[in-house]
Amino acid sequence: MKRPACKCLLVHLLVLLSNPENLALNGSVTQSSTYSTWEASNAIDGVRYGPDASTYCSSTSSESDPWWRLDLLDVYNISTVIITAHDDYMAETSGAEIRIGNSLDNNGNNNPICAVTPDPVTNNTVSYSCGVMVGRYVNVVMTGRTSYLTLCEVEIYGTENLAFRGTATQSSTYYNWEVQHAIDGVRYGDVSTYCAGTESESNPWWRLDLLDVYNISTVIITAHDDYMGEINGAEIRIGNSLDNNGNNNSICAVTPDPLPGNTVSLSCGVMEGRYVNVILSGRTSYLTLCELEVYGSENLGFKGTATQSSAYSLTWTALHAIDGVSNGPDPDPGTYCSSTANESDPWWSLNLLDVYNISTVIITARPDCCVDQTNGAEIRIGNSLENNGNNNPICAVTSDHLTDNTVTYSCHGMVGRYVNVVMTGRTSVFSLCEVEVYGTGNS
Ligand SMILES: *[C@@H]1O[C@H](CO)[C@@H](O)[C@H](O)[C@H]1NC(C)=O
Ligand SMILES: *[C@@H]1O[C@H](CO)[C@@H](O)[C@H](O)[C@H]1NC(C)=O
Ligand SMILES: *[C@@H]1O[C@H](CO)[C@@H](O)[C@H](O)[C@H]1NC(C)=O
Ligand SMILES: *[C@@H]1O[C@H](CO)[C@@H](O)[C@H](O)[C@H]1NC(C)=O
Ligand SMILES: *[C@@H]1O[C@H](CO)[C@@H](O)[C@H](O)[C@H]1NC(C)=O
Ligand SMILES: *[C@@H]1O[C@H](CO)[C@@H](O)[C@H](O)[C@H]1NC(C)=O
Ligand SMILES: *[C@@H]1O[C@H](CO)[C@@H](O)[C@H](O)[C@H]1NC(C)=O
Repeated sequence: MKRPACKCLLVHLLVLLSNPENLALNGSVTQSSTYSTWEASNAIDGVRYGPDASTYCSSTSSESDPWWRLDLLDVYNISTVIITAHDDYMAETSGAEIRIGNSLDNNGNNNPICAVTPDPVTNNTVSYSCGVMVGRYVNVVMTGRTSYLTLCEVEIYGTENLAFRGTATQSSTYYNWEVQHAIDGVRYGDVSTYCAGTESESNPWWRLDLLDVYNISTVIITAHDDYMGEINGAEIRIGNSLDNNGNNNSICAVTPDPLPGNTVSLSCGVMEGRYVNVILSGRTSYLTLCELEVYGSENLGFKGTATQSSAYSLTWTALHAIDGVSNGPDPDPGTYCSSTANESDPWWSLNLLDVYNISTVIITARPDCCVDQTNGAEIRIGNSLENNGNNNPICAVTSDHLTDNTVTYSCHGMVGRYVNVVMTGRTSVFSLCEVEVYGTGNS
């Protein structure tokens, strides 16, 4: 079935906007030794699972301190590493250190540790959060062990400080405390060359224009040691309005008073906006801001694991619906979509491994045909595994895939660990090319 070219472009654009890029795919790899045909590069071939492990997993020989190293060829800010082990060889991925940095000392195995894989590893695919670590090399090393080291896939996701895309303005400028110093990437440094500051005045403010609308989840502000009192109790406001210079947009957070430290991370849930303002409302003061960083919201689907009632064939695995690929480039959708067999009440279930307050679920149907294999399914969210999770409350029923492959469903404030998509009361093949979930931690 052919679709108009403009639609294809739109789908590709949505993919680019909604899926962070797996930085590993562009890197080059090496390992301490290679067992048979289990090449180091098999761990960055984009294939987590398959019928013949020797064609898609890497492995060293059994040796002491085996290691695998990825060279990203450039320095990145890395937030997440996802490692997939092989079912039959979980012990050969267990207790391994994930190290990230710029040094090649000891083959890169002396760089700082992001995380250590569980010992034993029990889930094939596990996501490790590194906060923000900077580096060109990502090593996986079994320090102090004699073992094979087997990795079926290593994925690396970076973070982007959206503030670097914008321009800034402030209510006034004190001496050479220029406005853009707060988005120059320098949190700490020489006095007056890296912080923004206003004159002492009433309601001083600073504003970032991102030049486009984003969904924002986190704002990190850094104060100056000597002037912590000039950014405490400040309102962080986010939105699309320039009324009152943007200072009437909704409040994401108010900075603590007093500040617990120079750098404070503020969570906004998910707020949509082009402008990020900082204002000392109702005060007469200088406003001093050394750095303001803005981070977008993330697809929680990448944190989870997925299962389905059955598989249409070996290739159409449940995990394809959370692989970050919603359309091609491979012409065979079986390489990036999930599908059940033709059966009654087919279902797909995402386990987020933690409870979240979910705002949005975005579902992409097959691009090549068969949207009826996705339409009319219930999206259910909750914490119960009764009936495989298919008894949890309903957020929405899928529709509209006939006119749009990718459809956004709003589930405002539904809390749960499981996101199921189920065709209750139907006998059908059930396919999903991508399921994205956005929301906030429910602490
Ligand atoms: C990876 O390579 C592709 C194709 O050459 C390119 O389009 C993409 O921008 C690269 N990604 C990064 C992070 O460099
Ligand atoms: C996967 O990990 C989760 C959380 O870490 C755990 O509760 C669950 O039992 C694991 N699943 C399997 C099959 O081991
Ligand atoms: C990493 O993030 C920091 C802080 O936002 C920034 O200063 C630095 O330039 C970033 N590094 C890279 C390599 O993107
Ligand atoms: C922000 O997220 C909502 C769903 O929560 C979505 O409808 C909207 O398109 C997103 N906005 C942007 C700019 O990405
Ligand atoms: C901004 O909000 C204040 C306080 O709520 C209100 O008095 C003022 O009229 C608003 N300004 C604009 C331009 O909307
Ligand atoms: C979920 O988040 C929404 C705001 O995004 C909030 O109104 C609601 O109370 C939250 N629900 C729970 C149970 O935390
Ligand atoms: C699935 O089975 C039903 C009932 O036997 C049948 O009507 C339908 O055509 C089948 N669908 C496919 C795609 O084979």
